[in-house]
Amino acid sequence: MCGIVGYVGNSSRKAAGHSALDVVVEGLRRLEYRGYDSAGVAVVADGTISSRKKSGKLSNLIGELEANPIPESLTGIGHTRWATHGGPTDRNAHPHLSDGGRLAVIHNGIIENFAELKQELLGKGVTFESETDTEVAAALIGDIFRTQLNDGGSLTEAMRLACQRLEGAFTLLAVHADQPDVVVAARRNSPLVVGLGEGENFLGSDVSGFIDYTRRAVELGQDQIVTISADSVEITDFFGAPAEGKEYHVDWDPASAEKGGFNSFMEKEIHDQPDAVAQTLLGRSDLDGKLTLDELRIDPELLKQVNKIIVLACGTAAYAGLVAKYAIENWCRIPTEVELAHEFRYRDPIVDSNTLVVSISQSGETMDTLMAVRYAREQGAKTISICNTNGSTIPRESDAVLYTHAGPEIAVASTKAFLAQITAAYLLGLYLAQLRGNIFSGQIKDVLADLSKIPAKIQHILDNAGPLRELARSMKDEKSVLFLGRHVGYPVALEGALKLKEIAYIHAEGFAAGELKHGPIALIDDGQPVFVVVPSPRGRDSLHSKVVSNIQEVRARGARTLVIAEEGDESVKDYAEQVFYVPETPTLLMPLLTTVPLQIFAAELAGAKGYDVDQPRNLAKSVTVE
Ligand code: AGP
Repeated sequence: MCGIVGYVGNSSRKAAGHSALDVVVEGLRRLEYRGYDSAGVAVVADGTISSRKKSGKLSNLIGELEANPIPESLTGIGHTRWATHGGPTDRNAHPHLSDGGRLAVIHNGIIENFAELKQELLGKGVTFESETDTEVAAALIGDIFRTQLNDGGSLTEAMRLACQRLEGAFTLLAVHADQPDVVVAARRNSPLVVGLGEGENFLGSDVSGFIDYTRRAVELGQDQIVTISADSVEITDFFGAPAEGKEYHVDWDPASAEKGGFNSFMEKEIHDQPDAVAQTLLGRSDLDGKLTLDELRIDPELLKQVNKIIVLACGTAAYAGLVAKYAIENWCRIPTEVELAHEFRYRDPIVDSNTLVVSISQSGETMDTLMAVRYAREQGAKTISICNTNGSTIPRESDAVLYTHAGPEIAVASTKAFLAQITAAYLLGLYLAQLRGNIFSGQIKDVLADLSKIPAKIQHILDNAGPLRELARSMKDEKSVLFLGRHVGYPVALEGALKLKEIAYIHAEGFAAGELKHGPIALIDDGQPVFVVVPSPRGRDSLHSKVVSNIQEVRARGARTLVIAEEGDESVKDYAEQVFYVPETPTLLMPLLTTVPLQIFAAELAGAKGYDVDQPRNLAKSVTVE
């Protein structure tokens, strides 16, 4: 999730006051929500490449450009980074240069085979300055341009040949001093769109990158190369065969363009979830169904000795931990406790060198969680951070980190990060089972196969949310909503209640369904809305019948029963006012699906009340005080 912009204009544009730098920086400003770990630009001027880049927000780069200007130019590229490989430093910022500084490259995505390519290039005497996969791509393109094409080739051909070697998800943009009138780009599984102007053309991660200059856009397909000049746009596949892009008119206003056309960042991020899960899975297992968590720098032998796991987190992240508990205990047979970080260190917990502490945090800056991790380390525990923000404090103070790749989450109410946290926790559990070689390890491949189908299943839920949105709007004046769930449905009920509290300011409470008859059922009055997350009826250990009994218990006392159930489960219809179905998937993975309707419900209801869904009252995106 990085912001990418490319621009080429002709002399008439210069007369109109357009410069590559102005266009690129304006585009990056609109794309900054996609990543703000660092920013950089490169332009082609006077037969050379001029580049500036700075860690931190775009304002840091602008300050650098003021202090250290670059020449006027009509060809340029720019990048705001959301770090995946390598921390958010100046050195790791894009663009990355190669071919003796005559080629500049920017990138969004993850190049899975960057390590082997780097070894190959090192063997050719290529040197590297950064830890990034992007610099490897730049070096590969430069090596091809300079050697295989013997200087006589085109940048477009060099990009094509390089893309034939790359694996993973990437959007690449390149400029070369020898070819000052073009920007060449490539995309695979990562966003890129062309903007068509008069005497100028644009590239952007999305239309926000150029919406101030043109509303004519061209959508690109998979595995395509695009070469833009001031007066032409040429599209081919990775082997040079001509291809067509689909032109369309952008009717979003600039502000909504930054939200992908959605009314709020929260809605956009709910719809980012298929990609957030897919990106978090990407590159972390091989074709044999073996986990390849190379970035998890902790001695496997130490992990084999772990006899207790404690998950530390707050809020939504803690509910992701609760889901993880069911999966990790089932797969690894290691006792797993989930603790609210702010409670943990004040209860004199039992922690030793065989305890693995897993912190979960989107921001990596939550003070409650950070202080708990510090305490656990002082007690001798090994610590792993599951985090969405590269280079933040909690990963830096942990023994190892497993990053979620959800992209920046702007809305205060966490959605895509939650699903990505659960996904990362599943990967960690599978990895521990694989290391320990227990009875379950033979089933890892099947679980990974089931996980790979989740993004499409989430998309199916998103595409069929109309009735749910209608219900939400009809309930905007409700004063209280209860949520019931059992087993892994229990943390989902807690999360559904939290979403409604956070953004619609409605009293909401999540319960373990079995707990109802031990007191909370007294809350049920005529017309009380109750969401019930029903487990799959499949499997001999299914809790389905028990939860259906819970539905009957509340319905008998007048509750409005709103049910989330698995497609094909007809039995719940007799007891539900409305049923919202999610696709079938194994029980332990169900939270990745059953959560989504509750997110949509909360966002739609809050929107119907006219509230600021992205920045709800009293809250902050990261709670950096205890
Ligand atoms: C979730 O919607 C809330 N914004 C909040 O509960 C959040 O999950 C919690 O503060 C933890 O934040 P973190 O993941 O950045 O540590």
